[in-house]
Amino acid sequence: MAVELPHPLFPEQAADEAARHAFFRDLKELVVAEVKPRIRERYERYLEPEFVARHGRPPRTAEEAGGVIVPDPSWRWYSALARAQHELYVDATAECVERQADVLTARCREVRAAGGAGSLRLDPSLVPPHYQSQVDTHCVPGGYFVELAPDDVYAAARYELGISLYTLGRHGSLNDSKGRTGVAFLRERFAGFSPRRVLDLGCTCGNSTLPYAEAWPHAEVHGVDLSAPALRYAHARSRVLGAAVHYRQADASATGYPDGHFDLVVSHILMHEVSTPALRAIFAECHRLLAPGGVMLHVEVPVRNALLDPFARFMADWDTEHNNEPFWRALHDLDLPALARDAGFDSASVFDLDYEGGGRAFINGRPWWLFGARRGAAT
Ligand SMILES: C[S@@+](CC[C@H](N)C(=O)[O-])C[C@H]1O[C@@H](n2cnc3c(N)ncnc32)[C@H](O)[C@@H]1O
Repeated sequence: MAVELPHPLFPEQAADEAARHAFFRDLKELVVAEVKPRIRERYERYLEPEFVARHGRPPRTAEEAGGVIVPDPSWRWYSALARAQHELYVDATAECVERQADVLTARCREVRAAGGAGSLRLDPSLVPPHYQSQVDTHCVPGGYFVELAPDDVYAAARYELGISLYTLGRHGSLNDSKGRTGVAFLRERFAGFSPRRVLDLGCTCGNSTLPYAEAWPHAEVHGVDLSAPALRYAHARSRVLGAAVHYRQADASATGYPDGHFDLVVSHILMHEVSTPALRAIFAECHRLLAPGGVMLHVEVPVRNALLDPFARFMADWDTEHNNEPFWRALHDLDLPALARDAGFDSASVFDLDYEGGGRAFINGRPWWLFGARRGAAT
């Protein structure tokens, strides 16, 4: 039976690929819902009490909690399984998209050639910053930058198929729950807010960008990313989905747009993939780009505010240690309100919350984490 695709550029899955992907989803479901909670159970019931008996107090830091749990077979079993599951995910999505990369590239080229709303502006002279180009983020070979052929779109097509699987399909068929959450929050928090220009930083395939275009149809919507393959795909994808978005290849910390050009600057799961100096520069760029009264909003994986104890902190660091997410831990430790203040935002305008609106949670009912600030009104 033919599977209906979310849009005409979405990678097709042959029967054997779909079976492999289904196996991955079931395995991930098992690891997250069944195996992982048992580690905490074992820690609380047996290992932490042993530590308390020896030291007269519970572990105080993630390192101490890790020292307790890592030698235990339960953690080793979980960690090995989580890594194997992730490698299966990378291999299965890469193989599926690689075999049809030429077809997808040709389709995007045709959409581009046919003309229409929105635009694509690439900058072949752009050199991706070291913190991106030297890391196969998330263990995906080549990260966002792999170019297999001229006009390639492989990296973004793999990303889109990948997030559908990685999130167990829970972010909507268009993987737009982050953008929808951002829109819902902005409407709730800033009644009457109606941006004339919107910029999405680190937009990859534009999945989170489109809800803003839908929410404010009169706004001019832009997306920037470092990756040319991502932007080619995002541009064609937006067109086939009927949205007019202007995509530009640029660094989020130096976008090239004029001062005060936007009323809204957003990002979605970008913060955890950039270095601390880069994030500092990105906040400064957001402040520069915003018109008076404009809003900076970053939507993120809801880990930081759930780091309630040393054990949770240690478990959250798994991705830093084993999944090529070098800035994951650093983000959770950063003083973001201070970074926003240093960038020029008024402390009183900073918001930092887990938000349940928008209709789709991150995963398993957990809300998204939103961080941002509003640029002061003109004086
Ligand atoms: C996790 S993906 C974001 C996905 C997408 N926004 C979403 O909602 O699913 C991170 C993206 O940020 C881009 N990126 C990383 N550092 C960047 C920078 N300094 N400037 C622009 N884009 C950047 C990467 O190329 C990648 O496409």
